Amino acid sequence: MRMNGVSALWMSAAFALSAAVGNFPQMLMAQEMTRRADFKPAMDYVSASAKADEILAKLSVEEKIEMIGGHDFFFVKGFPQYGIPQLYLSDATAGVHIRRELSNQLGKSVAFPAPIALAATWNPNLAERAATAIGQECRAGGIAVLLGPGMNIYRISQCGRNFEYFGEDPFLASRMIEKFVTGVQSTGTIATLKHFLCNNTDYKRRRSNSVVDDRTLHEIYLPAFRAGVDAGAMAVMTSYNQVNGEWAGQSKYVIDTLLRKDLGFKWLVMTDWWSTYDPGKLIKSGQDLDMPGSPRVGDPQFEKLGDVYVRTNAKRLLAEGKVTEREIDLMVKDILSTEIAMGLLDRPVKDDKFLANFPEHEAAALQLAMEGTVLLRNERNILPITERHAKKILLTGSYVARVPAGGGSSRVEGYDNLTMLDALTEEFGGALDYLPDPSEDDIRNAGVVIVGIGTDDSEGWDRPFALPEKTNRMLLRYSNLNPNVVVVVNSGGGVGMDAWNERVAGIVYAWYPGQEGNRALAEILSGKVSPSGKLPITIEKKFADSPGHSYLPKGEELYTGPKSDIDPSIPVYDISYDEGIFVGYRWYDSKEIEPLYHFGFGLSYTSFDLNSLSFSKASLMSGDTLGIEITIENTGRMSGAEVVQVYVGEKNPTLPRPPMELKGFTKVSLQPGEAKKVSLKIPVDSFSFWDSQKHAWNLNSGDYNIHIGTASHDIRFSKTVHVEG
Ligand code: BGC
Repeated sequence: MRMNGVSALWMSAAFALSAAVGNFPQMLMAQEMTRRADFKPAMDYVSASAKADEILAKLSVEEKIEMIGGHDFFFVKGFPQYGIPQLYLSDATAGVHIRRELSNQLGKSVAFPAPIALAATWNPNLAERAATAIGQECRAGGIAVLLGPGMNIYRISQCGRNFEYFGEDPFLASRMIEKFVTGVQSTGTIATLKHFLCNNTDYKRRRSNSVVDDRTLHEIYLPAFRAGVDAGAMAVMTSYNQVNGEWAGQSKYVIDTLLRKDLGFKWLVMTDWWSTYDPGKLIKSGQDLDMPGSPRVGDPQFEKLGDVYVRTNAKRLLAEGKVTEREIDLMVKDILSTEIAMGLLDRPVKDDKFLANFPEHEAAALQLAMEGTVLLRNERNILPITERHAKKILLTGSYVARVPAGGGSSRVEGYDNLTMLDALTEEFGGALDYLPDPSEDDIRNAGVVIVGIGTDDSEGWDRPFALPEKTNRMLLRYSNLNPNVVVVVNSGGGVGMDAWNERVAGIVYAWYPGQEGNRALAEILSGKVSPSGKLPITIEKKFADSPGHSYLPKGEELYTGPKSDIDPSIPVYDISYDEGIFVGYRWYDSKEIEPLYHFGFGLSYTSFDLNSLSFSKASLMSGDTLGIEITIENTGRMSGAEVVQVYVGEKNPTLPRPPMELKGFTKVSLQPGEAKKVSLKIPVDSFSFWDSQKHAWNLNSGDYNIHIGTASHDIRFSKTVHVEG
């Protein structure tokens, strides 16, 4: 069966989960994923755009032009005489970035763990909880538009912005994004899906061209945006890079065709900051808002760029007949319709009542860190740390006396930040010794050695996958001296650990934990909480094993530091997405490359058994839903949570397809000895592939393998179903 792009809405509706019925003693309630209805603005699109037309008729050309370019870096112009408010826009996905302009409006904002940690929770309800908190802080600060969620797919482990995104899998990312969007917008704040499209590296991001085929776009890079659009997101930000030869922010193909026609997006589209070069093209592309709308004064790179801004060129372009007033009207109309639909003309943006909710926001940040921390290795049950480590706990490493966070526009300062040192001192008291530079005897004599290592990832550049040789040597030396070394990694994505992985006793992946995250880490290390995070990425043994590893221009080395790429004399380089749809585990599985850690993997202090699997049907048709019921039991001695993961692979595909792809999951909390029956519903149409020739989804008839497990390589049951497409 074929469906066209727009009608293929199953991509977001694909995931549905319901509590099991029947006589099983324990119903799944607490962790059940409640798919809140998609966001509906206060006014629907038709009414909002009719009202926008009325206002538009009152605006002069000059006033309209003032609206389609930003002001003072983060503002959209308001016209109080027509009831149009000024809009303040602010970053982003891990909390509110408080800028100079905002500091007197919002004194503080909660620093949440980075979005990749949120993805590692595999708990979309937490995405909604965190996003609601962030939306409320926006309201408290008078921010109308949150410049997030960031959601580019993790294609390259070196990408400096991976921490801002939701990992390598479009299905997992989609389920988190839709909840993020509904959470933010439920507060009256506009969520912005960014960066559209294929901004999967930050290496010379303004001078790169992502060359990617139609099928790959639809199967890998568009689904999370589609999920956000379907959930009701009211804004989208285009990206810095070119997509197939055109700058995304001024490309009719990217904005008008892919975003507006294929995904059906109707509302506000804005550029990323200083990312377009041809104001005439921009006006005709479906773009609405040129941000920030003026150059950075005194910066020589901007002088080279010349006057490429819409606000300063639109009048001339009109006079020369290169653009029409109608085209400018369409841009203003999208801005106005979005503001009207969100009710921004009828209520103040700022609402102080949300300031009272900060304790709940902190609690959400803590819960998120608890569920997002991933335990990768735990030899001889080195963790949790208990009395059996009668000797000292030695803490060392360069990441323990600060709160590591990603850099760039998404950075959130937070307050009352707890370092690893503070948190572990609070947890372990006198049993903990912090020694920045321990001697061999210090290491040898410790009961357990906790070493904090990491990377400083940031927007604006990429960073090496490999850790510095110095770090590898240090860990090897420590593990030669003491068998009980536990490494805590603070990073925004995968790092090279193969050199010492098997030599250390424990590895905890703690990402960028936010202001409360080290408290969560302390509770996990001490065993108050069992870890339940699962990798939203695959971690390769070496970078050369990974898809897209040859993305850098020939002969160029990674730079890790602010190096302006805005200079138009820097040649544009092509990034060929040659691996196509084989991104992340799809790549490692199909190439049979063994990674160091698999997608979906994460250990617990307790153990889980899956049993009593049943399928609703063995043979299904397009339009049907496959019901899966399975019982999960906590067979260990601690309470904990496990993620049931469902992967699907076509048995005899008519074109290359991944051996398996994630199509469903649910996270379940269980007391020791407790069992729950869970039920997942998976629409059969989600087994389709994108047929580029027909520009449509296509569901092949045939047999499909359904794999159910607790990680992509830990499959407990595999069964086949027959599908008639
Ligand atoms: C980033 C965007 C951000 C914008 C405004 C840009 O550098 O790429 O993600 O929203 O700045 O701060």
